[in-house]
Amino acid sequence: MRDILNLMRWNSQDNSKKTFESQKEAEDYHKFAKKYFRREKLADYIAKTFQELIPPGSTIIDSAAGTGIVTKSLMAKNFEVISFDISPYQLDLLRHIIPGATTIIGDINSPISCRNESVNGITQVGANRFMTVEGQELFINRAFSLLKKEGIFIYPVFLGEIFSSKHKHGLKQKAFSFEISKFMEKCGFEILETSTLIHGVAGGATCTLIVAQKKSNPKQRSFGEMLKKSLNIKII
Ligand SMILES: C[S@@+](CC[C@H](N)C(=O)[O-])C[C@H]1O[C@@H](n2cnc3c(N)ncnc32)[C@H](O)[C@@H]1O
Repeated sequence: MRDILNLMRWNSQDNSKKTFESQKEAEDYHKFAKKYFRREKLADYIAKTFQELIPPGSTIIDSAAGTGIVTKSLMAKNFEVISFDISPYQLDLLRHIIPGATTIIGDINSPISCRNESVNGITQVGANRFMTVEGQELFINRAFSLLKKEGIFIYPVFLGEIFSSKHKHGLKQKAFSFEISKFMEKCGFEILETSTLIHGVAGGATCTLIVAQKKSNPKQRSFGEMLKKSLNIKII
């Protein structure tokens, strides 16, 4: 019951800079993500997808990395990972769980300070609702600049995040996967996949996974193609 109340409290926070403000909150989040969101399954799926699409040992940015559930799966596949998050408490726990991890304190709504064309992969998991309307566009555009040619951007959109994102930031915030992938295409990405993944029972554990690639001549999808791809449902 206390877990559920904590989740409701986090979801209702509307200030993108006020999250996980104590060690205790970081620990509670970690337990919650593992137990109820089955986040590790999604993290493994993301790591496997990167493994199929980018060279071994490449560098990946895990944005809003939290306590490192995604970072851990990526490192287990021998990727170099740069994990950034706004919460020092989340990152303290991340380094405790994964000694030797590279962490940076940063705000997803501001430009990420890495060199252009320096990484092969970027992901964010569970941070869409913390992005402002401008921050989200900046993040997607910046992801395009940071990626090397053929680099991969993986962006899950959780069912449970769609309405809280619109509620917090207004209707202009891109919360549905079709809105986000359309904007990615506008930035120059080609969408390789938009599958619906079910990895647990709650809405927070069902997501549409957008897999996008930085290509020189990206193909634009028709509406029919977009619909067909998103009807690809997988239980992981
Ligand atoms: C729901 S958690 C997801 C954490 C992790 N990606 C996972 O899958 O377990 C969201 C994370 O976003 C971080 N966050 C919130 N606002 C942020 C911001 N403006 N910039 C960077 N990180 C932010 C929080 O501190 C938290 O760790």
